[in-house]
Amino acid sequence: MIKNIKLILSKIKSSKTWYYFLLYIFIPIYNFFWEFLFNFHGKLYYYLWRSKKKESFDLKNNDKMIVENDPTFKKIANDLRSYIDDDFQKKEIIKFNKNLNLNIKVNKFEDYRADIFPLLPSKLKHKIMDFALMEKNLSTAANYLKVFPVIGKIYLFINFPVEKKKERGAMLWHKDDFGYKSLDLFLAINDIDEENGPLYFLKKKEPLGVFYKLTNVIVNALPGERNKINIKNFSKHFSAESIDALQGPAGNAVFVDSFTTYHRGGYCVSKNRIMLRICYQTPDSIDVQNKINENGFYFFQDLKKENTKDIFHKYLLFKKLNFFWKFIKLPWFLMKIYRVLHFKM
Ligand SMILES: [Fe+2]
Repeated sequence: MIKNIKLILSKIKSSKTWYYFLLYIFIPIYNFFWEFLFNFHGKLYYYLWRSKKKESFDLKNNDKMIVENDPTFKKIANDLRSYIDDDFQKKEIIKFNKNLNLNIKVNKFEDYRADIFPLLPSKLKHKIMDFALMEKNLSTAANYLKVFPVIGKIYLFINFPVEKKKERGAMLWHKDDFGYKSLDLFLAINDIDEENGPLYFLKKKEPLGVFYKLTNVIVNALPGERNKINIKNFSKHFSAESIDALQGPAGNAVFVDSFTTYHRGGYCVSKNRIMLRICYQTPDSIDVQNKINENGFYFFQDLKKENTKDIFHKYLLFKKLNFFWKFIKLPWFLMKIYRVLHFKM
């Protein structure tokens, strides 16, 4: 009986009628609630921010955009690279491998990258923060999200080749299952080609966003590979022409919504890759719920709430979910909605 119901529901969820119901009826209504109710505070800040004209990158109604030849982006990439030289990389990779114990890690595939942001000198961390708080980047994120963002993540990853290992974990196709909308900025700190794991992503925006999921995911997956799709299966749905990549010289970057866009990357064949990642999210994302620190901004505790005078910066760095939404566990409830109602392809 239950099996039959499940089968019927699954059929409905992969029907054209369900697709159009989500697209034209459910999502517009849901989106209204997401912007004006769940993110009420962020919506007010968004209008306030937009009351003065500001420069931004034009995503042209897409949920991603590649940035090339931008002098500011190149400058920060060069500044970071001159500190993270070959010796620094070698030392950190040895240290990482020495401490690596996949049995105690939640993600069973995290043997290929180390976050070195915490190891940077304060001056460089400040430089990265200035870049993350740059008006043009913030406006790009706010214009895309339609609410003012918070900074959910800042990572500076060195990815490196691991002997006898193929694509795994986040190197397989997936969406980051943390919320409704986000805008991530990936900035290449060194040159990227096929040998050091470009970030691949679908060119076109999927109108259903997080309400669109492929079904041929890895079965009996371990944590870190759940809901991921291997490269061969993915190619049955999308041709090579429909896929774009972040590669080329250091300083190239991509803005991409990692919640709505299928993506994969970071598989290094013979060389290391260094990439800065700044995630603009909203307080309802489950990703930001555990990133709270009493002493300052979660990723860089030198930045204190009491010393942050700019109201927008204060929101970006310190805004958390309000008491009521936290009490009813809104972020997890919303994740359930996306998981239950999505269109299955
Ligand atoms: Fe991802």
